[in-house]
Amino acid sequence: MIIESLKLHDFRNYEELTLAPHPGINILFGQNGSGKTNLLEAVHYCALGRSHRTSIDREVVRKGAAMAACGVQVRKSGLKVDVAVKLTPGESRKKQIFLDRKRADRISDMMGKLQCVIFSPEDLMLVKEGPSVRRRFLDMLLSQLSTGYFVALQQYNKALEQRNAILKEIKKGAHCDVAMLDAFEEAMARPCQTIVTMRHKVLEQVAACAAEKYRAISGREQEIFSMRYVCCLHSLEDIPGQVKAQLRKNRQEDMFRATTTFGIHREDIALTLSGREMKLFASQGQIRTAALSMKLAQLEVFRQQTGEAPILLLDDVMSELDMTRRTRLLEEISGVQTFITCTDESDLEGCRERRSYHVSMGENGSAAIKEISQGEQVHRTPVEITDPDFT
Ligand SMILES: Nc1ncnc2c1ncn2[C@@H]1O[C@H](COP(=O)(O)OP(=O)(O)OP(=O)(O)O)[C@@H](O)[C@H]1O
Ligand SMILES: [Mg+2]
Repeated sequence: MIIESLKLHDFRNYEELTLAPHPGINILFGQNGSGKTNLLEAVHYCALGRSHRTSIDREVVRKGAAMAACGVQVRKSGLKVDVAVKLTPGESRKKQIFLDRKRADRISDMMGKLQCVIFSPEDLMLVKEGPSVRRRFLDMLLSQLSTGYFVALQQYNKALEQRNAILKEIKKGAHCDVAMLDAFEEAMARPCQTIVTMRHKVLEQVAACAAEKYRAISGREQEIFSMRYVCCLHSLEDIPGQVKAQLRKNRQEDMFRATTTFGIHREDIALTLSGREMKLFASQGQIRTAALSMKLAQLEVFRQQTGEAPILLLDDVMSELDMTRRTRLLEEISGVQTFITCTDESDLEGCRERRSYHVSMGENGSAAIKEISQGEQVHRTPVEITDPDFT
């Protein structure tokens, strides 16, 4: 798939921007704080309806503005689709999605229209940090592959939030409403059928692929990288029944702790290198290779399942990679529309079929983008594009 046009309005430090990116590699270079990552963040919004670095939508609205919007026109299997996101934190409808200019009823309607994989220096957290980062990796992957998964996850999270709210009230001394707890546990258990089955299945695919990528990047046959789904259940039979039974069993303890201690929101992916837990034993280089392998595997799974490559967003990763890893990554991205940010354009010298953009901060503090070709600014007739409707 390809983004044919991208538009931003009062998004972070962009007042107004319209861009017709190259179908190959797009290099965004410029000083720190100029707005390079902000542009990738806008693409991420158009794919997932949210940022990759904050869960607070208000933060992306340009200082002093009341609303932010970003939109893309995507070409996919010969068809075109417009996806736009409008954020109005002060209003009752805080987030609105537009598909081909029509307002969508639900965020889930946009899932899969634009698929993206993002690489950033924070990817090392996939190995180093706690389970939530790895769960997010799985959820982002599956939500873009299956609307059913996204909806199931939303339902689960809502019911979980409700159960936790009740537990907090009980801890404060409120009467224990058993019927209400029953209802929320039932609502948590139902979507687990979809969530657990899909997590199992996709992880098998990702793990096989990541192990292969790791071997190829490291060049060491004896180092076996393995990913294993740490499921909250012991078997896949009657998943909702098992979840319900376990939630009920844990009620007393959960009331005491005022939170839900069991469920798919506690699951993890175990990462090992030749049988040893990576977080404890792996070197910096090995961690870097593992994180990169996981992301490349994600890209591959998208390709296998949809027959199309997703959009790749590479935020500041090139300078962090040694020559072997950089070459490997560049091989993988041939034929994939990619947006790469860097502070020094020379980091990307080996890239072909590319377009470079210089990102800078204007006098009024807003970002400006200039297309550059071999050090010269290009004067190009603006491309006619259909902009997503922001109003
Ligand atoms: N809501 C907002 N309104 C206006 N400006 C904002 C907003 N949020 C962030 N900024 C500005 O955006 C800039 C940061 O942009 P961004 O993270 O894209 O930088 P970058 O070019 O990726 O830098 P680096 O090379 O350091 O990663 C900062 O100058 C920050 O002040
Ligand atoms: Mg940045």
